[in-house]
Amino acid sequence: MPKNWYNILPDLPEPLPPPLDESGKSFDVLKTVLPSEVLRLEFSNERYVKIPEEVIERYLQIGRPTPLIRTRRLEEKLGNRVKIFMKMESHTYTGSHKINSALAHVYFAKKDGTDFVTTETGAGQWGSAVSLASALFELKAHVFMVRASFFAKPYRKYLMQMYGADVHPSPSDLTEFGRKLLKENPEHSGSLGIAISEAVEYAMKNSGKYVVGSVVNSDIMFKTIAGLEARKQMEIAGEDPDFIIGVVGGGSNYAALAYPFMEEELRSGKRKRRYIAAGSAEVPKMTKGVYQYDYPDTGKVLPKLKMYSIGSDFIPPPVYAGGLRYHGVAPTLSLLMSKGIVESRDYTQEESFKWAKLFSQTEGWIPAPETSHALPILKEIADEAKSKNTTYTVLVSFSGHGLLDLANYAEIMGFK
Ligand SMILES: Cc1ncc(COP(=O)(O)O)c(C=O)c1O
Repeated sequence: MPKNWYNILPDLPEPLPPPLDESGKSFDVLKTVLPSEVLRLEFSNERYVKIPEEVIERYLQIGRPTPLIRTRRLEEKLGNRVKIFMKMESHTYTGSHKINSALAHVYFAKKDGTDFVTTETGAGQWGSAVSLASALFELKAHVFMVRASFFAKPYRKYLMQMYGADVHPSPSDLTEFGRKLLKENPEHSGSLGIAISEAVEYAMKNSGKYVVGSVVNSDIMFKTIAGLEARKQMEIAGEDPDFIIGVVGGGSNYAALAYPFMEEELRSGKRKRRYIAAGSAEVPKMTKGVYQYDYPDTGKVLPKLKMYSIGSDFIPPPVYAGGLRYHGVAPTLSLLMSKGIVESRDYTQEESFKWAKLFSQTEGWIPAPETSHALPILKEIADEAKSKNTTYTVLVSFSGHGLLDLANYAEIMGFK
């Protein structure tokens, strides 16, 4: 088990453009709602940050280190041109990479002496991770869940409730912002950007702490536990990846796997691997978005961030990969994309789900709808290897399982 998290800030090719406080109020919002240590780490230039013992103990409890598996039957289907290694974040208790940072955020919130934490969730992966982390640190959690998912995806809601969290459909009548939106449209289906604004407002007004599930530097740093484990596991396997691939909602699981491998390349200035991130073609912020200052939330309460974005007012279509329905990309990942260090692709739900089915049949694991969007990249890499008459080693972020998303797969695939 790694004893430190990795922070990419000191190794970036140029300084990260800072957050912008246009309203003159948004930095005060951050200071009030974020756990103080999370805020400090957000701007820290320490390369390695010691993981508190209390967090390590809970990492062990929830299934860390997670396995790194080789997918030989899938390799066969791709013509044996790629050796594929998958970092299985699906093997944690809540079924995704989200618990890796939830434990850290909630631990730091508890240290500040708060009674409760708030957060937003789309399909419920992040919400269930925060709910479990809160249970393990004995804090109350209030989760604002995108209204459409609250009704359409009850199982993660039940999981959160089982862990003791209060789950509110967003927009809700608990906040001023939610009440305004419900007045305009009582059937409002909600979005992640709206749920963030509500979670922040609720924490502000009731002296709670808000925990952020992606995008920001501190969240990615906490999640690098996965990439640091994978670095060691690849070393033990005697392998070195030529490609590192994964999916991007806000960017955290992909960055968390890729950054510890990138460290050596960024520090030496010698490029060695290719990094490819995939998103949803229905929410094409990476391939059609602009690298610009934009709000991370729809209510425009938080400071603007420089990132690839298709606009904080963009209301994403109701694709089932709820975690990819976010309008922006983490500022550190956006900077690396703007420099050509990380490439991007977008795939439709239809194409990704075909790969999810193939993967389920070759490997036995059901990928989360989000995770399935990484799989089409494997075909592109295998084709390239074939055209160059070589083989490549690929490391994949298997960000979560889809066992609670089977109804969504069934609908698209027409299962009776
Ligand atoms: C399983 C899974 N993968 C990927 C994502 C995308 O988020 P991020 O890019 O922050 O890892 C999510 C977000 O909800 C998710 O639940």
